[in-house]
Amino acid sequence: MAERNFVKIITDVPGPKSRQLYSEMEQNVPRACAHMTPIAVSRAKGATVTDVDGNTYIDFAGGIGVLNVGHCPDEVVKAIKEQADNYLHTCWHVLFYESYIRLANKLNTITPGQFPKKTIFLNSGAEAVENAIKIAKYHTKRYGILSFLEGFHGRTAAAMSLTGQIQPYKYNFGPPIPWIYHLPFAYCYRCPFGQTYPDCELACVKYIERVFESVIPPDAVAGLIVEPVQGEGGFIVPPKEFLPELYKICKEKGIVFIDDEVQTGVARTGKMFAIEHFAIEPDLVTTAKSIGGGMVLSAVTGKAELMDAPHVGGLGSTFGGHPLSCQAGLATLDLVEKNNLVARANTIGDKIKQAYNAMQEKYPIIGDVRALGAMAAMELVKDRKTKEPAKQETIQAREYCYKNGLIAIGAGIHGNVIRNLVPLVITDEELEEGLSILEEAIKSVS
Ligand SMILES: Cc1ncc(COP(=O)(O)O)c(C=O)c1O
Repeated sequence: MAERNFVKIITDVPGPKSRQLYSEMEQNVPRACAHMTPIAVSRAKGATVTDVDGNTYIDFAGGIGVLNVGHCPDEVVKAIKEQADNYLHTCWHVLFYESYIRLANKLNTITPGQFPKKTIFLNSGAEAVENAIKIAKYHTKRYGILSFLEGFHGRTAAAMSLTGQIQPYKYNFGPPIPWIYHLPFAYCYRCPFGQTYPDCELACVKYIERVFESVIPPDAVAGLIVEPVQGEGGFIVPPKEFLPELYKICKEKGIVFIDDEVQTGVARTGKMFAIEHFAIEPDLVTTAKSIGGGMVLSAVTGKAELMDAPHVGGLGSTFGGHPLSCQAGLATLDLVEKNNLVARANTIGDKIKQAYNAMQEKYPIIGDVRALGAMAAMELVKDRKTKEPAKQETIQAREYCYKNGLIAIGAGIHGNVIRNLVPLVITDEELEEGLSILEEAIKSVS
């Protein structure tokens, strides 16, 4: 294998130690808890990882959008170590502590909306979503929730029910929780109404009126949950009017607008939160992934009157807002500001978009390029006219990537999207090297 600047492939990929661990994993871990690569990591820093066989890779996955501040930033590691010397766990519901309060205050300050806010901390994105739904129901005393086709909100019962993808998330896992209704998202490349933006006049938004007439009346709807850019669904960036129109409907009908920023948040899209691109002040915001800088942390932040609706003891979690995670969260958000990662996301996003657009001109297999800031993806198709998804080729391209030193992951309801969630601390040289491996991968399947 050729040696590059940052990537060093010194054995086969996967190497012997990764292969050994993989077979032990197969004996001990259920297959449902699946893998995008057969590589076992030994250490990671910034935007590069080293496997147990000594191979190094550039990381375009960032732990699926968790590592916007990079692998193991010194400041975050230091904060965790210092906290570990003091106390590990008290349970928030028994003894409270300063870092939880400081971090809540930070999220109350940096999330959009000029109104009093409160924040509760939990562990996973799904748990944040579950709690946001509970809060919306409690506040409105209504039980319907609107979510979107192709959307993803997690794997627990309510989060799975809100998710708009059967495979792999819902198939055979039993009936969803009741009173959830899926709406079409503005997936313009594959418009559910067969129309073209802007001539469509947002047929997908108009469709909601029919849902209110035929399926659930608006005064039975507690909340609408939406990803400003659909993540697992394939990095689908809606046209600029889509979210404001949804927001307007929510305001008219007294429906809580829940902005799921689990994947889009913390500078990824070139704003601290993606919803800022659309000048919306959501009632509730769910965050997770990158707010913990690699630690287990999620949150619901929202209007104080909504957050305070549920009775005392109605919300919570044994580990939610763990002291190590809160310290990591504080250090992470400091780093985002200190290193101006919002601006960096725009610079990185521009470079990625330019590279993807140039590739699209050369390789007909790239049907669509979508990006908002550094949340960028390409959708692969067998034929640009029929748009038949090129799922097998996408798998092969990703395999080419990891075998040649780039971790690149997929997305999309048809499994034919390659997404980029590169740590925002990547250097220009690392980014260029990663993009050139990706181009070779695309060439190899074209
Ligand atoms: C938008 C969104 N919401 C919720 C979740 C669920 O997060 P978790 O896997 O931490 O439960 C994800 C995870 O990818 C997500 O992208």
